[in-house]
Amino acid sequence: MKLIINNYMANPTDLILIGVICGAIIAGYIYLQNEWVEVEKYKIGFPNLPKSFEGFKIVHVSDTQFPYNASSTRNLLALIRKQKPDLIVMTGDMIDRRGRDLVEDGTVEFCRELVKISEVYAITGNHEYTSPLYEEWKNLVKSSGICLLINEHVIFEKNNEKIALLGLDVDVPFHEDLFRTDLNEVKDMPRILLSHKPNLNKSFESDKNSIRPHLVLSGHAHGGQFRVPFWRGLYSPDQGVLPKYTFGLYQLKNNVRMLVSRGLGNSSFPFRLNNRPHMPVIILKRL
Ligand SMILES: [Fe+2]
Repeated sequence: MKLIINNYMANPTDLILIGVICGAIIAGYIYLQNEWVEVEKYKIGFPNLPKSFEGFKIVHVSDTQFPYNASSTRNLLALIRKQKPDLIVMTGDMIDRRGRDLVEDGTVEFCRELVKISEVYAITGNHEYTSPLYEEWKNLVKSSGICLLINEHVIFEKNNEKIALLGLDVDVPFHEDLFRTDLNEVKDMPRILLSHKPNLNKSFESDKNSIRPHLVLSGHAHGGQFRVPFWRGLYSPDQGVLPKYTFGLYQLKNNVRMLVSRGLGNSSFPFRLNNRPHMPVIILKRL
């Protein structure tokens, strides 16, 4: 085979060299797309945010899918530590259902080190529920000091001022009567809801509730796995082909906003394209 460009005839050695260089560039690009975590800052305004919570920083960790985490456990911990968060929240699928050893896959180290950085609150994803390690994982989370919120809420207080964090069980549409303790006590506070699945969006904005979240933090969609530049992701579980909610901040009805992380790991699809692992950092602002 001869390749002639501007009267230059490439010999087989040149063609092999060009092939090797192109292959290395493509391999490098795919490697970076799957290992290089994007830390993205979101300044989110709340009209009712108490002064004491101005600048409150939340690191949003989602879909680490141990042992199929995008970056190494130590790199993830270092990145989170670097943000100096006031709070860390995890929106499900910390482990992948195919994992078989929480020590070997880094989950134990991750949980034990994470709580040294700040308080950590987590919800379950579909992978935890379908994992044979579910009970072991739940014990690990609790014994590490991570607070699991399953249709429960907590209140953070600073100088007698308060905000609320709510955690929703997986696959359960949001409803104010679902929670184990009466949500009436948080009706005048800014409310942040953790929900693994963004496709429950209709329930977050529903007129049927008088107490709705102001901000929902979600994951599960893995950014649509393969993203077409300047357009959208191609597929996500529960939303199918060309999913609507794959990453970023969405304005829903009734002044509800939803922030979807692209996640920090892979599941059935072993790699991503144009879709770097994603770690949102939310900074609360007063409007
Ligand atoms: Fe999921």
